[in-house]
Amino acid sequence: MASQHVLAEPATAAIFLVATVDDGGVDGVRDLLADLAGLTRAVAFRSPGDRLTCVAGVGARIWDGLYGEPRPAGLHPFQELAGSKHTAIATPGDLLFHLRARRMDLCFELARQIGLRLSGLATVVDEVHAFKYFDQRDVLGFVDGTENPDDEDAVAAVVVGEEDPSFAGSSYVIVQKYVHDMAAWQANSVEEQERVIGRSKVDDIEMPDSIKPKNSHIALNVIEDEDGNELDIVRDNMVFGNIADGSFGTYFIGYAKTPDVIEQMLRNMFIGDPPGNYDRILDFSTVLTGNLFFVPTADFLEAQPDSPSTPDGSLRIGSLK
Ligand code: HEM
Repeated sequence: MASQHVLAEPATAAIFLVATVDDGGVDGVRDLLADLAGLTRAVAFRSPGDRLTCVAGVGARIWDGLYGEPRPAGLHPFQELAGSKHTAIATPGDLLFHLRARRMDLCFELARQIGLRLSGLATVVDEVHAFKYFDQRDVLGFVDGTENPDDEDAVAAVVVGEEDPSFAGSSYVIVQKYVHDMAAWQANSVEEQERVIGRSKVDDIEMPDSIKPKNSHIALNVIEDEDGNELDIVRDNMVFGNIADGSFGTYFIGYAKTPDVIEQMLRNMFIGDPPGNYDRILDFSTVLTGNLFFVPTADFLEAQPDSPSTPDGSLRIGSLK
């Protein structure tokens, strides 16, 4: 089974589209998803080497209408997590399109083509055009992505295996859009910022455990299973911003073979480990969205299973309104 391009080469530009499917839209959306690899090829081929890829994710609300049985074992709506000070909110979203390339124009052209096909079928409820700062840094000024697994470790982290045989080769993805209080962040000394993240800013070296604060981003996001094995996800965070309205943010995207791992990280960040010991990065960040999607294999999307939807193409879940 060919997976989608979850493990893409590092990109410098990305567009994130989150859409809700309109009543009556499922059949057309299923067709679009089946054509997505072809649409991507049509745009990517004109600029070989710029590595345009698109990953599509499907949310829990729309799965039954689109594909019916069987259901991916781990697919469920994003669960809101309310901590003592910060809450990871859940927001609407049935479809994710994660477009990456070395050039924004390629992402934009593919997003435009997807938008044409979604017209009348689905509504884009969140759209972010994002980029990676030089040095692979995020907008807080720290190198972001260093501890991502690579090669076979990355495959082991993100690809569903025999634990859910109907969906071997698939993945799960969680996205969250954060905006940062840059004035508050920049009011900290570099040393204080390093204690928030848990790594040095210029050199990107992890702090020794002896001095790394327990509420640093790194301390709360290194998690292990009961046998002491580290549990990995693959992230591809991107920067976005707007000079006119002064908003600067990080679009978090994390892929894994089970949503449990990312959800555990989010519990540590928002509720805290132990509860109350939440991630200090949140004192400088406000989360605006939260979605969980299943990422079927490319083969699955192209195979267009028979439509389980009602003859009128409705979602069988009632209206969103
Ligand atoms: C590591 C930034 C949100 C999971 C890092 C690092 C930075 C960073 C700078 C250190 C370098 C690296 O290894 O990549 C941010 C920013 C976020 C954000 C600016 C948005 C406010 C999240 C979220 C999760 C997460 C929501 C998980 C749900 C991780 C993990 C690591 C990491 C697993 C690697 C830990 C390790 O193995 O050392 N992040 N992150 N991050 N982050 Fe985040």
